[in-house]
Amino acid sequence: MFPMYPPGSIATTVRFPQARKWARRAFDAFKFERAMRRFIADPQTAVRSGSSVLPDLIDGWGNSGWSALDEYLRVGVEHVLQADGAVVECGTGLSTLLFGAVAQQRGVEYWALEHLPEWSEKLSQQLARYGVSVQVSTRPLRSYVGFDWYDPPLHEMPPQFSLVICDGPPSRTVGGRYGLVPVMRRRLKPGCIILLDDAEREHEREVAHLWQSELPATAEYLDGSKPLIRLKVQPSALKERTGLSHGIRTTSQETRRTVLGASVEGFASSST
Ligand SMILES: C[S@@+](CC[C@H](N)C(=O)[O-])C[C@H]1O[C@@H](n2cnc3c(N)ncnc32)[C@H](O)[C@@H]1O
Repeated sequence: MFPMYPPGSIATTVRFPQARKWARRAFDAFKFERAMRRFIADPQTAVRSGSSVLPDLIDGWGNSGWSALDEYLRVGVEHVLQADGAVVECGTGLSTLLFGAVAQQRGVEYWALEHLPEWSEKLSQQLARYGVSVQVSTRPLRSYVGFDWYDPPLHEMPPQFSLVICDGPPSRTVGGRYGLVPVMRRRLKPGCIILLDDAEREHEREVAHLWQSELPATAEYLDGSKPLIRLKVQPSALKERTGLSHGIRTTSQETRRTVLGASVEGFASSST
């Protein structure tokens, strides 16, 4: 028996789960396309609270649980709008597409580090679709002494970054996101801002605390449903420290364990 409903009618989509899923996907894709056009036309207006652009982009991207929240995207856009030099993002996704578009409009170089080819592939398709230019480095995570982290192509990258957006690698990585500072500290210019996502997690707060003393940097806790930590690199960070070799400071496992295991009480206040 053929269905009694004309194809495409609401009754058809409700009766057939496959059709409902397809219709949902098509609608999300339409909303994503429309929201992306609005974002590119005017990022600042698009991220204002009350605008439907970010929620539509998040729905359309469809990686819930991993994708950034609108508050994170808003803070990131505001920082890229003010960045006075190159930007690097650790971990990729919707944020890369949006922040990269803003950087491109401002003539600011944007780099992104990714360790999973499938995520890189998804991102590259969207970057091409919207004509956004981002330097995406896709390489497996590398083992350093005491931690794993990205393997950035330092010889191809700008000498200095003014903003780091840190939403990767995933928390199960040995050392989590710690590797940023030992691997890239010489590329962080004085005054460089580091935005670290997932500050509700104790490990992220420990990492930020460690970076604070190693760089050194000031730190501020940005509250929200998913808080961020915003660090600002102090000028003395450019001073050489013992153990630096080709931009990579080898930290003994024991030292790292000691520091990462240290109490970070007092960090959860508005600033330290
Ligand atoms: C938290 S995600 C970054 C999300 C990104 N900021 C966004 O706005 O979409 C960090 C890393 O997790 C990995 N990842 C993203 N989605 C994933 C998924 N659904 N399952 C497993 N790994 C994922 C990717 O390697 C990504 O670089």
